[in-house]
Amino acid sequence: MSDRVFYITTPIYYVNDVPHLGHAYTTILADSVARFKRFTGHRVFFLTGTDEHGDKIAQAAAKAGEDVRAYADRISAVFRETWDALQITYTHFVRTTDPLHQRLVQDLLQRIYDSGDIYLGDYGGKYCFGCERFYTERELQHGKCPDHQVEPTFIKERNYFFRMGKYQERLVKHLEDHPNFIRPERYRNEVLAFLREPLEDLCISRPVSRLSWGIPLPFDPNYVTYVWFDALINYLSGLGYPDSETSHSFWPEANHLIAKDIVKPHGIYWPTMLWAAGIPLYRHLRVHGYWKVEWGKMSKSLGNVVRPLDLTHKYGRDTLRYFLLREMVFGLDATFSEEAMINRLNSDLANDLGNLVSRVLTMIEKYLKGRIPDQVGPESPEDHELRHQADASRATLLRAVDEFAFNRALESLWGLVNAVNKYVDSTKPWELSKKKPQALERVLSHAWEALRIVGLLLSPFLPETGQAIADQLGIDENVEEARIEQAVWGSRPTSGMIRKGPPLFPRMEGGFAAIRGQEDAEPANPEISLAEFQRLNLRVAEITRAESLAGSKKLLKLTVRLGDEERTVVAGLQGQYAAEGLIGKKVALVTNLKAAKIKGIESQGMVLAAEDAEGHVVLLTPDKDIPPGSKIR
Ligand code: MSP
Repeated sequence: MSDRVFYITTPIYYVNDVPHLGHAYTTILADSVARFKRFTGHRVFFLTGTDEHGDKIAQAAAKAGEDVRAYADRISAVFRETWDALQITYTHFVRTTDPLHQRLVQDLLQRIYDSGDIYLGDYGGKYCFGCERFYTERELQHGKCPDHQVEPTFIKERNYFFRMGKYQERLVKHLEDHPNFIRPERYRNEVLAFLREPLEDLCISRPVSRLSWGIPLPFDPNYVTYVWFDALINYLSGLGYPDSETSHSFWPEANHLIAKDIVKPHGIYWPTMLWAAGIPLYRHLRVHGYWKVEWGKMSKSLGNVVRPLDLTHKYGRDTLRYFLLREMVFGLDATFSEEAMINRLNSDLANDLGNLVSRVLTMIEKYLKGRIPDQVGPESPEDHELRHQADASRATLLRAVDEFAFNRALESLWGLVNAVNKYVDSTKPWELSKKKPQALERVLSHAWEALRIVGLLLSPFLPETGQAIADQLGIDENVEEARIEQAVWGSRPTSGMIRKGPPLFPRMEGGFAAIRGQEDAEPANPEISLAEFQRLNLRVAEITRAESLAGSKKLLKLTVRLGDEERTVVAGLQGQYAAEGLIGKKVALVTNLKAAKIKGIESQGMVLAAEDAEGHVVLLTPDKDIPPGSKIR
C-alpha cells in the first residue's frame, strides 16, 4: 500500500436545513479531490458529516415540533442520503452527537483546562443567534451582523473562556513561515488582517439554563460547550483520534475545505485550540467562494434555494459536477443559473466531448470493423503533436488540482478534447479510408488512445462519464481503480472490440427556453375556480420612475402609481426595455403578492409580461387609456 496519504474534510453541515447547492458544491469538490488523490496513488481519508448541537438546531427542532435528537437524526440522515445519491465517496460520516466525538471534545476541554488555558470570566457583548457567536463592533456592518443583517442582542453572563489571545504572535509567525497554510492568498490576508488587531479570548461555553443541547463541560456541569469548540474537533474525532492508527497517519496531512463564511474559526480558533491541546496543526486550509443565484444570496425566505437532487434528476450527476467545477474560479464567488448549466451541457459536454467520442467510435466501427490494431506504423508530425498535447494536458491538470483550481484542470482537459477534434478534422480519416489503409489505422488508433487518456483523467471529476468512455472504447476496467500512470501515452491495455453506446450527453434541444416550457406545462395546467382567480388583485399601474438595479444584469427598479398610492417593484426587464422608455407606460400589476426583498429592495408587486420561446419579454399594457389604479378583471 502507498505510504503517501491524504486527508480531506468538508465542514460538518448544520442540520437546521436540508442540503442545498452550496453544501453540494463543497462536498462534490472534496469528492473530486479524494478521487483524484486515489488516482495518483494516495491512501485517502475523506471526512464529512453533520453539526448537530446549539441554539440554531434546538430552535429548528422546536419549529418542526420534534424532539431535538429525533430531528437531528432525521436531517443528518437526509445529508447522508443526499451524498449517497450523488455517489460521494466519503470514508466516514461524523456526527457531533456520536459518543466518540463527545468524549474527545470533553477530553480536550479537560486537557486545556488543566493546562490553565481555560478560565471562568464575565462577558458582555453583542451576540448573533444566527451565527451563535459574539461580534466585536468592528465586525458589524452598520451595527448589524453581516451574515444575517440583524442587530445582535447584548448579552452579559459568566462563562468559560479560552486564552486564544496568548497564541496570537505564534499564529502570525506560523502564517508567515507557511505561506501555503491558508489558500488562496486573499483568505490568508484576511486572517492576517484579523491578527493585526489584538486577538481576544474566546468564549467557549453557554450556561445550561440557556442552552441544554450541547456537550457538558467536564469540569462544570452547569455549562455546555459553545458550538465551535464542539464542531471543529470533528476533524480529529472523525479519524478516531487519539486511539486509531488512522488518525496518526492521516492527521498531519489534513486539508480542510470550507467556504469563505467560516474562515475565522478555521484560520484562528482551530490552530490555537490545537496548540493549546498539544496537537500539531493541520496542513492546509482551502477556501472557496460563494454560489449566488441570480437574485443574490440563496435563502429560504426568498424561496430561491437550489436543491442538488432536483438538478441531478433533471440533468444528471456528471452535468452538475462539471458545471460546478468548471464554472467557479476557486476562491471567488460565482452565479448559478440553470441557463448557464444547460449552455455548458450543450457546448462542452454534448458538443465537444460527446460528439467526439461518438464520431471516433463510428469511424472505428465503419472502417476498422470495431477493433484497433495492436501495432501501427511510425508517427506523423500530427500524431506527435497530439501525443504532446496529451502529456501537456496531464501535466497542467496535475498542477491545477494541487492548487484546487478545478476550472483550470477541466480547461486543460478540454484543450486535449479540442486537439483530438482538430486532429480528426485535419487527418480526415474518411478520405484515408479510400486509399491509405495504414494511415487510417494509425490515425484512428491515435484518436482512440487520446480518448482513453481523456476518459481516465476525467474520471475523478466525472466518474460516470469516465467509466462510460472506457466501456465504449472496449476497455474492461473499473476506472475507480485506475492509476495516473495509465494515463500516459502508449500504456494502454490491449483493447477488445469497441462497444459504441448511446451519446454520453444528449443535448437539451431548444436550450433553456424549452426547459422552462416543459416546467410550465408539466403539472398539466391545473384548473382553478373563479373564486381562486378572484383572490388575485390585479390593477393598472403607471410607471413613474425606472432605473437599473446595482449589481444586476436583469433587474430594473420601478416606481409605479396606482391611483393615490405609490409602490416600488423590482422587475426582470433589463435588457428587454430601456429604463427611460418605460416611464409613462401603463402596465398590469399583481398588487397582493407577498412583498419580497430583492437585492436589498422590497418589491411590492409583480408586473405582468408575456414571454416567447426565445425569452423575449413584452409588457402587457391596456389597449386604450385608462386611469392608474383601475381594477383588472
Ligand atoms: N456547522 C458549521 C461548520 C462547522 S465545521 C467544523 C457550518 N455549517 S453550514 O451548514 O452553515 O455550512 C457552511 C458551509 O456550507 C460553507 O463553508 C460551505 O462549505 C457550504 N456552503 C453553504 N452555502 C454556500 C454557498 N452559497 N456557496 C458555496 N458554499 C456554501 O457553517
